[in-house]
Amino acid sequence: MTTYLITGGCGFIGSHTCLSLLKRGHNLIIIDSNINSSQNVLGRIYKIGHIENNHYENQITFIKGDIKNYEILKKIFIDAIHKKKPISGVIHFAGLKAVEESVKNPLLYWENNVFGSINLFKAMKSYDCNIIVFSSSATIYGNPKEKFFREDTTIQPMNPYGYTKFTIEKILKDIYISSNKEWKIANLRYFNPIGAHESGLIGENPLNIPNNLFPYICRVAYKNYKELKIFGSDWNTYDGTCIRDYIHVVDLAEAHCAALDYLIENKPTILNLNIGTGIGTSVLEMVNTFSKVNKIDVPYSFANRRSGDVPSIVADNKLALKTLNWFPKRDLSEMCKDGWKWQINNPNGYN
Ligand code: NAD
Ligand code: UFG
Repeated sequence: MTTYLITGGCGFIGSHTCLSLLKRGHNLIIIDSNINSSQNVLGRIYKIGHIENNHYENQITFIKGDIKNYEILKKIFIDAIHKKKPISGVIHFAGLKAVEESVKNPLLYWENNVFGSINLFKAMKSYDCNIIVFSSSATIYGNPKEKFFREDTTIQPMNPYGYTKFTIEKILKDIYISSNKEWKIANLRYFNPIGAHESGLIGENPLNIPNNLFPYICRVAYKNYKELKIFGSDWNTYDGTCIRDYIHVVDLAEAHCAALDYLIENKPTILNLNIGTGIGTSVLEMVNTFSKVNKIDVPYSFANRRSGDVPSIVADNKLALKTLNWFPKRDLSEMCKDGWKWQINNPNGYN
């Protein structure tokens, strides 16, 4: 049994990844401040375990704490060594992710995302842990001309959030070079994760009005909001609405397991990998698929473009497929079905 440290493990992507790792028999230490999540997610993970006759309670240690606090991180590494279960690797999800908030309050983002990450890397270095999978984002590419974004597409973040992700990647690169290339690092650049675990027990839990398309659609369908506003009908795309590369969160979770396996089995390296499906879906296509699959109405109207939006973001995911021997298995219908199941079973999230 290997022990992994998961920062931000109570969040949307973190919780699904924890579940995939638990299924593989790993021990997890989760640190989360719960600034954007609920500790109740752990009970749900245990419940999924029970349904499958597993006792994940024995595999998880949860620490409510902030990665900006170096002393907490230090104690986690020392305790794991004392218990003779040293931390073999880290998946680093902890971070703030709201683009608009990052424009309004950049210091919050630089401090939480970058300072928090530096603390984590310092603790890893001090206790000889040099395997890390980092949650990066397709947002770092900005608005390039290419139809499919490759890992070597020009990086040009358009907001402070994107810059924090790019900066953390740069810090990891510097660590890799300075360590005599001893570290094993995977920067996973996620495209648009949506959907939920098929059990309907864990899913995305925006604490405020959702900014993102998919959770907003779910709430309109649930009649929390009257209608969806589609931001722009005059983009230069086939139906005038923006195109994104949506990926099922469970496929994304599995990409993390594959990345950890790859790093453990291979020589030190630093990888940048696009984690998407390579398939573009317009906002209108998403609304129509959701309605059709779930047999539910999603009223919408067109509104002005949202500032900072770009018309099309689709992954060239060939490098990830080849390197990780992983591929996304769940299609848009499944994303819509599973996301809706989570919504109707948990209209108040984890409360
Ligand atoms: P999330 O907000 O659901 O999860 C992030 C978790 O980190 C939360 O549980 C939060 O409480 C915790 N956290 C934040 N700051 C912390 C700190 N200083 N110390 C301890 N815990 C802290 O978000 P998510 O959608 O699961 O995203 C996970 C990661 O993936 C984030 O780093 C995000 O930037 C990145 N990402 C997300 C998307 C997306 O569309 N969801 C896309 C690209 C990249
Ligand atoms: N959209 C609407 N109405 C809404 C919400 C969104 O029309 O109420 C549209 C947006 O204009 C965009 C598309 O739906 O065209 C997708 O928007 P999201 O906010 O769901 O996703 P983004 O691609 O804008 O951004 C997301 C995350 C970022 C991350 C990026 C990675 O919010 O943090 O994906 O590609 F960096």
